[in-house]
Amino acid sequence: MTVLMGENLMRKDGRDHMTERKAIYPSMSPQAVKSHWREQFHEYTKRVIADLEGEDSGDLFWRYAMPVSAHALRVMTGLTDMSVDEMNRVSQGMIDGCANYGGDAAVEAHCHECTASIDAHIDAQIMAGVADDDMSLLGVQLRAGLSLEQMRANIKLSISGGQNEPRDAIAGTIWALLDHPDQLEKCLSGETSWLQAFEEYARWISPIGMSPRRVAQNYDYGGVRFEPEDRVFFMFGAANRDREVFASPEEFDVTRDIRKSLSFGAGPHFCAGAWASRALIADVALPIFFEKFADVHLTGEVPFGGWAFRGPLALPCRWTAF
Ligand code: HEM
Repeated sequence: MTVLMGENLMRKDGRDHMTERKAIYPSMSPQAVKSHWREQFHEYTKRVIADLEGEDSGDLFWRYAMPVSAHALRVMTGLTDMSVDEMNRVSQGMIDGCANYGGDAAVEAHCHECTASIDAHIDAQIMAGVADDDMSLLGVQLRAGLSLEQMRANIKLSISGGQNEPRDAIAGTIWALLDHPDQLEKCLSGETSWLQAFEEYARWISPIGMSPRRVAQNYDYGGVRFEPEDRVFFMFGAANRDREVFASPEEFDVTRDIRKSLSFGAGPHFCAGAWASRALIADVALPIFFEKFADVHLTGEVPFGGWAFRGPLALPCRWTAF
C-alpha cells in the first residue's frame, strides 16, 4: 500500500497519525455528514432511482450500489470531475495492486495508472481553485497545511476503501434482506431500523475481513510470543463471528446487539468514514430503495467474492417502481 499509494495516515502511528487524522476530521465528522454530505447523497440517489424507474430488471450492483457509493466519494474527496465509473475503476485498481502478493507486473502497472489518474484529478482540482469553505477531504487538508504528498496519499486511501465498502454493503444488505423476508419485514414495519440492518450485515459478512499490522514491540498473548517486525493479520471477520460474543453468529438477525462488532475496526485507526457510510447506507440508500421498489425480488444467484475485501459480485433483480 505504501509503495503503490504513498504513505497514508493509516500506516502512521502516534502523533504523526493524529496530526493527519485531525486534519481530515472536519470533513468526516458526524456534524459534517449531517450538515453537509447527507443531503448531497440523498439528491444523487434520487436521480439514480429515477433512472431505474423506467426499467423493470437489471443488475443493481452496477446500476444502483456502484454509482450511489461512487458519487458519495466524489463529493467527499472533492474530485467532482471524476466520473462514477472512473472512481470505481481506480478504486478497484488500487485494491488489486495492494493485494498483488504474487507481484504480477501487469497488476502493478495498472495500479500505477490508476493512482496517476487520481493525482491528475487532484492537480486539476487545485489548479481550478478550492474554495475557502470547501468541506471535502481535499479542501480540509489544504487548509490544514498538509503537503501535496500527504493529501494525495490520504485521498487514495479513502478511495481504495471508501468505494468498494459502501458499494458492497449497499448491495449486500439489499441481498441479505431480500433473502430473509422476515428480517426485511422488521425494517419495513419499523420494528427495527435500516441502520441495524446495515450494521448486522457488516458484522455478518465483514466487508473488510482483515487488516495487516507490523508488530512494534515484544508482546505475549495467550502463550504466543510476538516480536518487533513480525507481521500479523487482524481478522475482523473472525471476531465478528466469535461465539463468545455473538449468539448464533452465523445467523443474519437484524435485532441483535451489534455494539461489539468490529466492522469499522477499533482504536485510533477506527474507520474515519464510518459516519458518512452509516448516513449514506442507512439514512439514504436502503430506505429510498425499499420505498420506491416495494416489490423488488432477486432473479438469480448472488455470487460473493474476496475475503480481505468481501462482497457480492452481482445483484440481479426485478422490480416495479411505486
Ligand atoms: C461500509 C463501509 C466501510 C467499512 C466497512 C470500512 C471499514 C474500515 C476498517 C475496518 C478500517 C480500519 C482498518 C485498520 O484498522 O487497519 C477503516 C479505516 C479507514 N476508513 Fe473505512 N470503511 C468503510 C467506509 C469508508 C469510507 C466511505 C471512507 C472515506 C470516505 C473510509 C475511510 C477510511 C479511512 C481514512 C480509514 C483509516 C483511518 C485511520 O487509520 O485513522 N472508510 N475502514
